Amino acid sequence: MTLSPLIKLNDGHSIPQVGLGTWPLDDDQAAAAVVQAVEAGYRHIDTAVKYGNEEGVGRGIRASGVDRGELFITTKLDGEFQGRDRAVAGLERSLDRMKLDYVDLLLIHWPLPARDEFISTWKTFERLQAEGKVRSIGVSNFKPSHLEQLLTETDVVPAVNQIQLSPAITRVADRAFNTDHGIVTESYSPLGGSGASLLRAPILAELGEKHGKTPAQVVLRWHIEQGLVVIPKSGNPDRMRENLELFDFALDARDLAELGNLDEGPGAGHDSDTTGH
Ligand code: A2P
Repeated sequence: MTLSPLIKLNDGHSIPQVGLGTWPLDDDQAAAAVVQAVEAGYRHIDTAVKYGNEEGVGRGIRASGVDRGELFITTKLDGEFQGRDRAVAGLERSLDRMKLDYVDLLLIHWPLPARDEFISTWKTFERLQAEGKVRSIGVSNFKPSHLEQLLTETDVVPAVNQIQLSPAITRVADRAFNTDHGIVTESYSPLGGSGASLLRAPILAELGEKHGKTPAQVVLRWHIEQGLVVIPKSGNPDRMRENLELFDFALDARDLAELGNLDEGPGAGHDSDTTGH
């Protein structure tokens, strides 16, 4: 069984560098996946209100047989719970569904800048953290412009910014902004997402052969070497194990240069000024 290394957050807590993504698993699939993932060595599970599988994730946690304290659980509140005080009820409902007393990390799922409520939402997150219902607080899909406003108008610097990131969608400027402000970048859709063609790129098969690894492991190693937290989703126990076996090889400068050719440019991926829920 492989365990993931930990990455230190700016609030003193630590997050396992590899976690299990759970979208688009339903409750029953998520419950089974969490049990299999914990068995494989995962201690970090990522869900969201919007995924509709928190109840299943909670069931999986209880069935996994490991102590709650050994696990790092993330959920994300979406637009329904943005606005002054609304995150209180939002988090309460997530905790009820998962049957947990706290989550390790609570994220604002999307900035929704047109609604202009992420500041009041963040102030509520700061209170929830002070009350102990959530250990760490962070954001998702935030661009530097959104973070600049948040850093100016509120007190607590987000511990994490979870963004869509892969060798095809590299968001170099966004990552640099996060790093400069002590915010850990977490990659969602690290393999390119469900149904994406990234894993079929011939260079990944070539580099996989060179290192005795699969295309998915080459992509995940690309994230790991840049200090990114990754949450590959799989409902398949063999792939779950494979996605944790990333710490016995290294990409060299030539490999990284070749992977650079997969970059689809600064316009690739979701634009969170206009997308979100
Ligand atoms: P599956 O759940 O059938 O394993 P992302 O994490 O970027 O969102 O990508 C998830 C997609 O990648 C899912 O379709 C998942 O399918 C697939 N996937 C996950 N791990 C692997 C792997 N090791 N090899 C190939 N495909 C994988």
